[in-house]
Amino acid sequence: MLTKETAAEGKLRVLVCVSGGGTNLQAVIDAKKAGRLERAELVRVISNKPGAYALKRAQEAGIEGICVSPKDFPDREAFHRAFLSAVDEASPDLIVLAGFLVVLPAEMISRYRNRIINIHPSLIPSFCGTGFYGLKVHEAALRRGVKVTGATVHFVDEGTDTGPIILQKPVMVKEGDTPEILQHRVMEEAEWVLLPEAIELIAAGRVMAADGKVSVKYQDEAGGERSVWHI
Ligand code: GRF
Repeated sequence: MLTKETAAEGKLRVLVCVSGGGTNLQAVIDAKKAGRLERAELVRVISNKPGAYALKRAQEAGIEGICVSPKDFPDREAFHRAFLSAVDEASPDLIVLAGFLVVLPAEMISRYRNRIINIHPSLIPSFCGTGFYGLKVHEAALRRGVKVTGATVHFVDEGTDTGPIILQKPVMVKEGDTPEILQHRVMEEAEWVLLPEAIELIAAGRVMAADGKVSVKYQDEAGGERSVWHI
């Protein structure tokens, strides 16, 4: 677990894993450029897809981007070994899954316990778990007729979207929404806000996990601290 002590030693080394367009990666890059995330350093981006646009975003931001594709390895085990060594090589303090569509090797989850975060485009535990990715999440939300959806940042454990919840943000569903429209609103209003915020809070040592739950310590206006559960 990251502690205030860890954060105080220097910048948090952040590795981002991607599979696609990388708009969440871009939100983190933009936050950094805007002078936020002062305590964090984006050290490497790993994609499992050679043509992922996210790699271009990394390149343009001057971040090392590499591809480790399962197609270049004879079996899953060999891919997992190569992927894990690309992760270890970067010596990350925090691993961010930003639209990474690969099931992580079990060894990685235990090695980096409470140091891997994922962004999911719904309010967990709704519309999450196996099969809920990309547009499918929003299709299911519209099918069910929910009036509020949103996004969640959580630590990654052995299950699918089951790890301790760090941050959540609601987004209203509107009349006439299509899955595509809703997906974009959830990204704009929630995902691109939450992901940099979660990294910032972790880098500041303000995120503590215990017993499957997360407590986030915010500073109040007077500079004092207050704990918030399940914000
Ligand atoms: C996002 O909706 C994220 O919540 C999910 O995958 C999508 C990735 O989008 N995990 P992008 O590649 O960041 O644009």
